[in-house]
Amino acid sequence: MKIFIVSNADQAERAAAKLVIDRLKAKPDLVLGCATGRTMEGVYDELVRRAQLEALDFSRVSTFNLDEYVGLDSGDERSYHHYMNEKFFSRVNIALSNTHVPDGTATDLAAEAASFEARIRAAGGIDLQLLGLGSTGHIGFNEPLSSLRSRTRQVTLAPLTREQNAGMFGGDADKVPPTSLTMGVETILETREVLMVVTGEHKAEILARATEGPVSAMVSATALQFHPNCRVIADEAAAAQLTGAEYYRAAFRLD
Ligand code: GLP
Repeated sequence: MKIFIVSNADQAERAAAKLVIDRLKAKPDLVLGCATGRTMEGVYDELVRRAQLEALDFSRVSTFNLDEYVGLDSGDERSYHHYMNEKFFSRVNIALSNTHVPDGTATDLAAEAASFEARIRAAGGIDLQLLGLGSTGHIGFNEPLSSLRSRTRQVTLAPLTREQNAGMFGGDADKVPPTSLTMGVETILETREVLMVVTGEHKAEILARATEGPVSAMVSATALQFHPNCRVIADEAAAAQLTGAEYYRAAFRLD
């Protein structure tokens, strides 16, 4: 794992977008794993800005999203599918047929999960997976006690996650769907490269636990310590509790 510490969220978003663009330029048919959440909004904004400026071509790119709320369809503005359409897919020349978001309205969720995994395999696997970090330490929606060998499946959301994500649901945690479909921890570990973006003081403690703490199913992000090609971009506020920060600043520099 390499942790890059940058001064603020703006710089973190720029650096993350730059890495995605570098990978796209190297592989025009990039298979990109997408994340949602507030942290990623700025990353997609910056990606779109540069795509327009540099006429970047996403026509051969495929995407796989980490997760979706069970029960929300793509037309529901609170769904992650809608988020992706709004913030990214509709703003670049990606073919919608190449975009994959787990279908939270599938009648057979286990079959949808298996089909999602099969589609990832058929695409040749994910080249670069973007990740945010949830307050419970989740990646995707892999809440505490998610097996570190888990695959795509239905997961019950932790109370803290429903509180954190209540904004889209009128501020009422009880209105947040109780479950989601999420890529599993092992599914994420199989991606060729991971880029996790973490910003803000409120993420400082969980970032330290995720990156420097003992590996535990209680914090699924600790599994990233097993990933052979994982970068974390954190702003100063999020990096505030990293005991190795001085070393990371000296050892890891963004190009
Ligand atoms: C959400 C999503 C994650 C996301 C994380 C962080 O619940 N399931 O994929 O990365 O939590 O969200 P935010 O960036 O809003 O803090």
